Amino acid sequence: MAKVKSKWVCLECGYESAGYLGKCPECGSWGSFTEEAQFSAKGVNAAQNEFINREKPECLNNIQLGEEIRVSTNISEFDRILGGGLVLGSLVLVAGDPGIGKSTILLQTGGELCRTGKRVLYISAEESSSQIKLRADRLGINSDNLYIYPQTCMESIKAQIEELAPDVVIADSIQAVYSQAVPSSAGTVSQIRECCNLLMHIAKTKNITVLVIGHVTKEGSIAGPKILEHMVDTVIYFEGDKYKSYRMLRSMKNRFGNTSEVGIFEMHSDGLREVKNPNELFLNERSQDAIPGSAIVVSNEGTRPLLVEIQALVGTTPYPAPRRVCNGVDTSRVHQILAVLEKRIGLNLSKQDVYVNVMGGIDVTEPAADLGIALAIATCARDVVVDSQTVIIGEIGLSGEIHPVNNIEKRLNEAISSGFKKAIIPYSNNVPSGVKIEVIKVQRLFDAISACVCPASAGAEG
Ligand code: TYD
Ligand code: MG
Repeated sequence: MAKVKSKWVCLECGYESAGYLGKCPECGSWGSFTEEAQFSAKGVNAAQNEFINREKPECLNNIQLGEEIRVSTNISEFDRILGGGLVLGSLVLVAGDPGIGKSTILLQTGGELCRTGKRVLYISAEESSSQIKLRADRLGINSDNLYIYPQTCMESIKAQIEELAPDVVIADSIQAVYSQAVPSSAGTVSQIRECCNLLMHIAKTKNITVLVIGHVTKEGSIAGPKILEHMVDTVIYFEGDKYKSYRMLRSMKNRFGNTSEVGIFEMHSDGLREVKNPNELFLNERSQDAIPGSAIVVSNEGTRPLLVEIQALVGTTPYPAPRRVCNGVDTSRVHQILAVLEKRIGLNLSKQDVYVNVMGGIDVTEPAADLGIALAIATCARDVVVDSQTVIIGEIGLSGEIHPVNNIEKRLNEAISSGFKKAIIPYSNNVPSGVKIEVIKVQRLFDAISACVCPASAGAEG
């Protein structure tokens, strides 16, 4: 394959240019250009010929499904975010910060799959066999079905997969492997694309499930071309608070299941353990007394409702531009809520700093948490409290109206099971008769504030 010259490619959108550009004219991102080798059309065609398959298209009605389409990983939190288990022949990308536990979770998954009789090949492109062995000992994994292959060359990996014929391949990591078909070094855009292509080809033609580990950049996106996320069947992000022991697996794309599912794990000395009741984890540090600036929301993460505490702090600022600092919630969403509080309730915070924090390090992304955020800010500003036994559910519109939310029954049942006595919910949400919690339906933000806000008790911290 003759190298002709190099070209520059935008990592975000794939725009190509003959020279380096600081800003992409296509997608507008800065500093996203990377150099790539360009090949002659003849060379590219020769490489593609290898993949030509002479199979004919098949009529949909004639396609027979195999008996076992999904395989359970025996880790129920991981199964849930995969949509019920690993789909045979699928390509799953697990991405996350360094040290978050990607190698640990996939080695554990490999160990569990081996226990169910599956043959697993763990390709370690970053660590030696003895390092993997040490980790496996720590995790209590010993199986005759688990093969470790420290290798970075994709062609050798492909040959070994063909010889061993495993059911599952784990590639740790996509940034550390390289293909001889591309002359650039491992981790470059063209290498990542080529290696992912090869792995996908293996997965689809041999019906092998491939789990691939991917690194993330300091901005938090998967290092390499955006196209990587388009190519794979499932993208899972491994997130977590560096200062806490628990970790969250979140599915961002899933061709075979729900997205936005969250699986929660806790890192122990013997590996990651599933957290069956995450509400205990998020609410156990909460003060039993109601405090100004605190509200409990029921956020629907995928198919599971999670109870989380939103805290707000409001204080007079000495600076002309007040600060708005948000952890775990979208800052522009908080700006919008502040605007509604000012215009519809008359709460003027233009001279106040506002800090909003979701306790437990989790990100709350859905609008059903709006009302909780508004109440946390309003109660802190006025030094009043929301009753500690009340959960707040609702999305706020720009005119201060409360919009209905989905899955209200599930959210209320979750609140009941965690011992809450009262729920503030949107007016147009219907509550099934069997739900045993005091429900207050509110139409406007003002109604919500009147319904659940009470003076701070004598013992409350303020
Ligand atoms: P690792 O899976 O190597 O992270 P990644 O592959 O995402 O870079 O996990 C690294 C961290 O996890 C490391 O700081 C040590 C910790 N750890 C435990 O606390 N307990 C364990 O049983 C294992 C295997 C790792
Ligand atoms: Mg690792």
